Amino acid sequence: MRVLSGIQPTGEKHLGNYVGAIRRWVAEQHEMDAFHPIVDLHAITVPQEPEALRESTLDLVALLIACGLDPEVCTLFVQSHVPEHPRLAWVLECMTPYGEARRMPQFREKSAKSENFSVGLMTYPVLQAADILLYQADVVPVGEDQRQHLELARDLAQRFNQRFGETFVVPEGTYGEVGAKIMDLQEPTSRMSTTFSGDLGLVRVLDPPDLIRRKLRSAVTDSGRDVVRSEDKPGVTNLIEIMAVATGDSPEAIEARYDGAGYGKFKEDVGEAVVALFDPIRLRYADLRGNPGELHAILARGAEKAHGIAAETLAQVYERVGFVPP
Ligand code: TRP
Repeated sequence: MRVLSGIQPTGEKHLGNYVGAIRRWVAEQHEMDAFHPIVDLHAITVPQEPEALRESTLDLVALLIACGLDPEVCTLFVQSHVPEHPRLAWVLECMTPYGEARRMPQFREKSAKSENFSVGLMTYPVLQAADILLYQADVVPVGEDQRQHLELARDLAQRFNQRFGETFVVPEGTYGEVGAKIMDLQEPTSRMSTTFSGDLGLVRVLDPPDLIRRKLRSAVTDSGRDVVRSEDKPGVTNLIEIMAVATGDSPEAIEARYDGAGYGKFKEDVGEAVVALFDPIRLRYADLRGNPGELHAILARGAEKAHGIAAETLAQVYERVGFVPP
C-alpha cells in the first residue's frame, strides 16, 4: 500500500498539526510505502516572501525529521524539486471543468477575502490531485477540510482512466479518528489553527517549555471542577484529549487519576506532559536545523526517489494524451 500526504511549508506547526497529521505519518511510515511532499508550489498560490519561504521549507524538513519522520524509511521531498508535479497538473487542468474548479469550497472561501487572488489559487486542488496521482497513492490521510479536494483527485483519476485507459490508481481519502481533533485553548469550540487562533490559543511544537506551561495554565476551563469529558465542557474535554495524546494514556485513565484533583493541578500536569512530549523534539530540531548541508542532502535523496516514480507515470500520461515523444 502506498500512502501520500503533503504539507504546506508556511505557518509554524502546532499541536493540532502534530496530532492530526505528523504523528499519524510517523506511525504509518512503518506500515506503508509513504510519500510526503512539502508543497512549496502550493505555498505561492497566495503572496509569499521569498526568503521566508526558503527558510520555512528547511525549518519544516528539520521539524518533520525531529518529530520522527525517517527519511531512510519514507520519501520526504520538496514538491518543486520534482518537475512532474506542475507538468501533470497542466494535463489535469485541461480535464477539469472550469465550473467545478470555481465551486471548490476552499477556493470560494479564500477568493472571497480579496479581489486580487491568482489563477493558481483556483487550480490549487488540481495540483494537489497531481501530487497524489503521480505516485499512484492508495490512501491519502488528510483533514476533514480536504474532503472535496480528495473527491476531485478521485474524479480526475476516474475521468482519465475512462478516456485514455487504466493509468491511475483511484486514491482513498482517510480522515482520521473522531476525537483526535485539538481545539483552541482559549476558544475550545474552535479548532486550534494558525490562521484563527490567538497566541495563547495554540501551542507550537517549538515553543519554549515555559511558554508551553504558561499557555496550558491559562487554558480556558469550564464551570464545575470535575476532570471529565462532556459536551458542555469543551475546555476540559480538550485538555483531557491533549493529556491523552501527550502521555499515551487513555482519557478514561486520566479522568480516574484526576478524580477530585481540581482544574489547577490538572492544567499544571497537562503543561508538563506537553513539555515532555515536545522538548526532545525541540532539541533534535535545533541540532538538525543547524546543519543545512545535511538537510539539503536528505532532500536530494528524497527528490531522486520521488522523481523515479513520478517520471514513469508522467511518461505514460504524455503518451496517452497524444504527445509525440521528445
Ligand atoms: N492541501 C493540503 C492542505 O492544505 C496540502 C496538500 C497538497 C496535500 N498536496 C497534497 C495533502 C496531497 C494531501 C495530498 O493540507
